[in-house]
Amino acid sequence: MNYGVASGKAVGRKTDAIVVEVFEGEKVNGDLKEIDALLGGLLSQVLASGEFDPKSSKPLLLYAGGGRVLLIAAGKRESYDFEKAAQTAGTAVRALPNVCTSATFVLRGGLDPRVAGQAVSEGIGLALFRSDFYKSERKDSKLERIEVLCSKADVRAVERGIEDGSVLSEATNFARRLADEPSNLMTPSMLAEVALGVANDAVKVEVLERADMERLAMGGLLGVAKGSDEPPKFIVMRYAAAKKSKVTIALVGKGITFDTGGISIKPSAHMDEMKTDMSGGANVIGAMKTLSHFRPNVNVLGIVPATENMPGGHAIKPGDVLRASNGKTIEVLNTDAEGRLILADGLTYARNQGATHLVDIATLTGAIVTALGRVTTGVMGNDQPWVEAVLAAAKRAGEKMWQLPLFSEYADMMKGDISDLKNISGSTEAGSLTAAGFLQAFAEGTPWAHLDIAGTSRSQKDLGYMAKGATGAGLRTMVELVRAG
Ligand code: BES
Ligand code: MN
Ligand code: ZN
Repeated sequence: MNYGVASGKAVGRKTDAIVVEVFEGEKVNGDLKEIDALLGGLLSQVLASGEFDPKSSKPLLLYAGGGRVLLIAAGKRESYDFEKAAQTAGTAVRALPNVCTSATFVLRGGLDPRVAGQAVSEGIGLALFRSDFYKSERKDSKLERIEVLCSKADVRAVERGIEDGSVLSEATNFARRLADEPSNLMTPSMLAEVALGVANDAVKVEVLERADMERLAMGGLLGVAKGSDEPPKFIVMRYAAAKKSKVTIALVGKGITFDTGGISIKPSAHMDEMKTDMSGGANVIGAMKTLSHFRPNVNVLGIVPATENMPGGHAIKPGDVLRASNGKTIEVLNTDAEGRLILADGLTYARNQGATHLVDIATLTGAIVTALGRVTTGVMGNDQPWVEAVLAAAKRAGEKMWQLPLFSEYADMMKGDISDLKNISGSTEAGSLTAAGFLQAFAEGTPWAHLDIAGTSRSQKDLGYMAKGATGAGLRTMVELVRAG
């Protein structure tokens, strides 16, 4: 998408549509007067009639004076924020008829200009993503150029925000594409190739092979990989801050390119959705991709243990005991609880590489969907200030996250009978928390936050700026977190 920022009046420009957000209780004053005049008084009429409710109406397209004006309901002015602005921008581009090649957005929400610019390009970039890559005929949007109007003093800040939002939406769409790819076209080897392709002057990428995993005694990852003919890969991405920093944030993403459940095999209904079980890993790779633009002041490690979880002839079986790379032994009572087994080695590797702060992101438990639905990512951790830093980053990034408690009782439920740990508690209760309790044993004492995106990594329907399919949940939060340092 080509963006231009200008100051001046909306009316009289060369554009296919003027997009105008309307707030609750707004009178036709100031800039709206001009648009009302273009529309021959239609705006006043529509608002007075109640046909368009700025609280909740669908976008309304008006034709007049040889042009189009698209009205978007923006809700209350007081509660208008980055997230709302991104949603309305995304909603707007979806509502434009697919003959428009250009559109003009008027920034009238009163946000910080950089934030407002970011919201426009991020919302638009995300909204134009579609996951029907394999259709012979795709109906792509024809939009080529977006013009953003703001006050003269704000032009530069809005431009910078637009750059940020473009980088973030492109990286998110890149991760969404990876997650949406079917497992035959996104094997661990292919995922590793993609990660290598992300390397640039700011981010170095290395892929560890099975022999390296054996040397490092990564029994969790190697154990899960045993059932598959596809070789496992361990992706390591490194960003070093320009000025030496004592802080190294590790982002560890689950990279199960397909989860059949293994010998504890899943039912066949909806098993296809398990092609997105590497969403966490994809989102880490996507987040690392943005760092050459944002150049944060802290070091960042991106780590993705990748394998299929298959029930092959060599597959691990319920009751098998594995030894993870930190030496802890695990009795595998259910081979479908595989994410935690590979994350155990991911977290350990991150710590051994000098990570001072850990974040893991994983489609880990069906139980988180029961608890929080598909709206909210579950956050758990061992260090309250670090969890709060993640929640604050999520709020700024416009992603919904909520903390769940990780009392020591949950970790206790994962203590093994014949080994240090078992990979399921043996009870169906608090499944997301017992999973986190297991992971906690591999964070050891390092501040750690765990994001369970099993509910949020896919969207069942088009909604605001999100489209049906993978969402990239957590990616923008992770970038915001490392930007904050
Ligand atoms: N990948 C699944 C979790 C999942 C479920 C992701 C639904 C997306 C949607 C994970 O590996 C898994 O199978 N978890 C089990 C754990 C159980 C065996 C303790 C689950 O949640 O059922
Ligand atoms: Mn599983
Ligand atoms: Zn899984």
